[in-house]
Amino acid sequence: MDIQELEAELTGQVEGAADMAALEAARVAALGKKGRLTELMRGLGKMDPAERQQVAPQLNQLKNRLGDAIEARRSALKRVELEVRLASETVDVTLPVRPEEQGRIHPVSQVIDEINEIFADLGFAVAEGPDIEDDFHNFTALNFPPAHPAREMHDTFFFHPDGSGERKLLRTHTSSVQIRWMENNPPPHRIVVPGRTYRSDSDMTHTPMFHQIEGLVIDRDVHMGHLKGVLEEFCRAFFEVEEVRMRFRPSFFPFTEPSAEVDIGCSFDKGQIRIGEGDDWLEILGCGMVHPNVLKFCGLDPDEWQGFAWGMGIDRIAMLKYGIPDLRAFFEADLRWLKHYGFMPFDVPALGGGLSR
Ligand code: DAH
Repeated sequence: MDIQELEAELTGQVEGAADMAALEAARVAALGKKGRLTELMRGLGKMDPAERQQVAPQLNQLKNRLGDAIEARRSALKRVELEVRLASETVDVTLPVRPEEQGRIHPVSQVIDEINEIFADLGFAVAEGPDIEDDFHNFTALNFPPAHPAREMHDTFFFHPDGSGERKLLRTHTSSVQIRWMENNPPPHRIVVPGRTYRSDSDMTHTPMFHQIEGLVIDRDVHMGHLKGVLEEFCRAFFEVEEVRMRFRPSFFPFTEPSAEVDIGCSFDKGQIRIGEGDDWLEILGCGMVHPNVLKFCGLDPDEWQGFAWGMGIDRIAMLKYGIPDLRAFFEADLRWLKHYGFMPFDVPALGGGLSR
């Protein structure tokens, strides 16, 4: 048979294959064990050498071209198959969710998102550190002298000593992350650190695990005025009020000098607390200028670098903002409570659109 005719016929079958099964049938008919081309190639052995020398290259080239044609057809069919699937499996992501989504965002998570949003807008990064800490990061590097009573202030949960005699602990405050951050990053610094903290304390207003958010700013020319400005800006944004009255009271923390505690102005009306009005005061955080010893522990020269820090109870300000009367409910995992106070997962806090809607 004429090789050109054979090629036309076999190629026609390949190119005309309507689906993968037809293509496979065409391949087997040409190149399978008993395929037309295979049979011809088998016949080469019986030819005399002169004829074989002429026919063999033609058959080989035909085999290559057929192989290419099969591959081309295969990818064309695959493309069509994919297009058909894409057309039939479209999802309209703008359709409302059905049934209505069940999960809720815990008020603590919501408040952490809100705080991060506010400080991100002020140019702060969010940092994290381990819940299980060593004495150095939780106390020593924060300028707590050995055996100083301030260490006892914290009702620390200690682990049993390990082989080397070291006693790990559950961090009593997020201040430990100030140290970890400064050890691992070059100044200047501008971070907030939300996280879990632990103290052996439990009543109406204390739980053994609670949440804090730490703030740290280190630069060359930073002073208390900046601290005040940042905290005022935060309170206004967080409580979503035009004006917040704030009061800085002198205080003591080993890791700051000077130190202050901050109260915000509020009113207590029939058991309801309102921020931004009234003549009462409510303490919300501790703060101060970072102590030179803390900077030295982190390898910074206090004559060159200075800054401020603060630490605030997240659960506390969540209760204030959302009128939640009992702290313990935060940790009871009661779904009805979560439904009542919880936030919709798709309502992501954004300064532009209203933090909490
Ligand atoms: N770590 C303190 C506490 O848990 C809170 C605190 C006070 C943090 C002053 C600070 C600070 O960074 O400057 O009671």
